[in-house]
Amino acid sequence: MIRGLRKIEPYTAGVQPAKEKMIKLNTNENAYGASPKVHEALASFDADRLRKYSTLDQADLRFALADNLQVRPEQLMIANGSDDVLSIAFLAFFNNDEPVLFPDLTYGFYKVWADLYGVNYHEVPLAEDFTIQTEDYLADNGGIILTNPNAPTGIYKPLAEIEAILKANQDTVVIVDEAYINFGGQSAIPLLDKYDNLVITRTFSKDAALAGLRVGYAIANEALIAVMNAVKHSINPYSVDLLAEKLARAAVEDWAYYQVNAKKIQKTRSWFSEQLLRRGFDVLPSQANFVLAKPNDLAADKLFKGLEARNIYVRYFPKVERIKDYLRISIGKQEEMKAVIKAIEEIQR
Ligand SMILES: Cc1ncc(COP(=O)(O)O)c(C=O)c1O
Repeated sequence: MIRGLRKIEPYTAGVQPAKEKMIKLNTNENAYGASPKVHEALASFDADRLRKYSTLDQADLRFALADNLQVRPEQLMIANGSDDVLSIAFLAFFNNDEPVLFPDLTYGFYKVWADLYGVNYHEVPLAEDFTIQTEDYLADNGGIILTNPNAPTGIYKPLAEIEAILKANQDTVVIVDEAYINFGGQSAIPLLDKYDNLVITRTFSKDAALAGLRVGYAIANEALIAVMNAVKHSINPYSVDLLAEKLARAAVEDWAYYQVNAKKIQKTRSWFSEQLLRRGFDVLPSQANFVLAKPNDLAADKLFKGLEARNIYVRYFPKVERIKDYLRISIGKQEEMKAVIKAIEEIQR
């Protein structure tokens, strides 16, 4: 018997089937590909550069991002996907005795990091209509983390309500995970000048269509960024590889391309939500690149299996009581979503 082994319930990530022909709508990846500048940057990358370690501070990428977001480069920290950014943030900021607050229905990884790092936490139930209630976050706490728009609901919390939470909790860190913000809603970036306790996290996985590259970042005041860098440099200082930095920078410099695609996804989201409503589904109002929907005349697991049998992958959370009758469906290209509607009609018959 070997002693000292860790027991932990890991995060269950969406499956990544190795199929050529499928409609993959289970992990909220971007339906559209990389911009022309990213393709060029990849083609011109000199593999000999990989002889050296990557940069420690991703200055090139931070300067490009700072320009794009209208913040200072010193307000940015880059890491290996926003999962890495968030994991660093949990270690950096959640060291109080009071519980860290987050919704009972949100990004499933928050609970996993809290358990892994021994952070005291409290899962605050969402209201009946799946919204985050501001007053629940005005109580004593050791920190707060909210996804906005929330996942897996897609519901956006207006900025004035985020501000009320920041204002009431100025002695603890409030993280706003903006993984999906470019598909709808207003970013909390303008609040950074007013609130020293705000940390915003972002990813290149969704709006920038680079999930496989693994780049994410935090935006906060210099003092909080310094704490995050200290933690990053206590774990894996070279976690952002050189190729990732170069390609992410190319994406930032070609941002108009991604904005056009975000608009297409919003349009398809409206169309798809309407189609589901017409077919008797409940559909939560989403500002993200996915919708959470409940089929009313057939069981969620039957629909999930029926779609899977047709090589359409969506996300089903049978173990999460509140949404066990729902499916979370990422918004793909218009043709893909038409195929999903056709498949749903077949399964409904
Ligand atoms: C709310 C939220 N935050 C963070 C992430 C992690 O993204 P990344 O690919 O940057 O690690 C996801 C991924 O699905 C997410 O849904």
